[in-house]
Amino acid sequence: MDIKSGILMHRYEIGKLLGHGNFAKVYHGRNLVTGMSVAIKIIDKNKVLKAEMMTHIKREILVMRLVKHPNIVHLHEVLASKTKIYFILEYVKGGELFDRLTKGKLKEDSARTYFQQLISAVGFCHSRRVYHRDLKPENLLLDDEGNLKVSDFGLSALAETKRQDGLLHTCCGSPAYVAPEIIDQRGYDGAKADIWSCGVVLFVLLAGFLPFHDSNLIEMYRKIAGGRFRYPKSFPVEAKSLVSKMLDPNPMTRISIVDIVENPWFRTGLGCERSEPVMGERMVSGDLEETGYCNAFDIISLSRGLNLSGLFNDSGEDEKEVRLLLKQPACAIFTKLEEIGKILKMKVVKNNGVLVKMEGLTSGKNGDLVIDFEVLEILHDVHLVEAGLVGGDRLEFREVMSEHIRPALKSGV
Ligand code: ADE
Repeated sequence: MDIKSGILMHRYEIGKLLGHGNFAKVYHGRNLVTGMSVAIKIIDKNKVLKAEMMTHIKREILVMRLVKHPNIVHLHEVLASKTKIYFILEYVKGGELFDRLTKGKLKEDSARTYFQQLISAVGFCHSRRVYHRDLKPENLLLDDEGNLKVSDFGLSALAETKRQDGLLHTCCGSPAYVAPEIIDQRGYDGAKADIWSCGVVLFVLLAGFLPFHDSNLIEMYRKIAGGRFRYPKSFPVEAKSLVSKMLDPNPMTRISIVDIVENPWFRTGLGCERSEPVMGERMVSGDLEETGYCNAFDIISLSRGLNLSGLFNDSGEDEKEVRLLLKQPACAIFTKLEEIGKILKMKVVKNNGVLVKMEGLTSGKNGDLVIDFEVLEILHDVHLVEAGLVGGDRLEFREVMSEHIRPALKSGV
């Protein structure tokens, strides 16, 4: 893309800078066809992508592309060039939630409403095994109706890379919202780490200042590790036990989302019915946006929009890869690949739980056709199958894929 011209891939006009961090810049954008406002997050690939993060990032991007929630900034599509990744995001007009705190704490009821929306978003993603791991004020935006929208959900692989690089903690990020087990670099449970950050957010909304703060960073870490903080006198009494359970430094005993949504302070104002869509725990996996992946148009735009080859393969080689999104369990896909191999008289070797190699067929001028299949779980029983040409003739690969393998995988063999 040519940022100077202000047009991204003939599709989006790039406008003013909305914000920037270590790895990314966010611009306002406009869809040239529909006129719709978007936020365009531009990430420098070389800075963040490491080979081991690829699978993680692909899975998360696909999940966020497919899942819709009213309190999560929607990822419309992902575009890529050789050096950059462009996340085309829902544009959220109302600024950051924390701008509302300039005059101090919020009223209890509005703090609770934002917190309910935050937990709804977090619970929804956790039920899909997507964790934020980097919840902080900049990621909590408000739309024009004053609803909370969490941004960067699903991009935790990028957040993680930041930490591996040591940059977030050493120079730029404040650990104020980070769970002690992350600071200690113990292995951690993404769900419990997010709950800690939500506890810090709730404290700030109700107190108007941070629970763990010290001008000396080491002392601040100590306070976080010990879960040492004090409530101001004005802090709503009924909210204290919830905050204390969220800011439990031991992730094993820290409260879960299921128990947060049972908490009487949390439930206030929701009515007693348990069918409120705001409740994170009600949204079990499987409740994808209805048109999310069933419709062929979306799958096409997904693969085109995601431009995964551009994203993950610097050679830009497109024809070497074929991708299919299948709503089938992995074992059914592996069984089908074995049966397809038998029919095509190709040797099928299962490598680990994810990879299958298919070899054989007529020798073209480039030798035997060798295809690698990677089966990635996107959601429960939704898999992305990536077929890559490893050896042999590209024309033969394309023909075998489109005539035999793709139709067989999509239906029965
Ligand atoms: N800043 C960062 N992300 C944004 C978004 N999605 N909308 C508006 N401003 C943002």
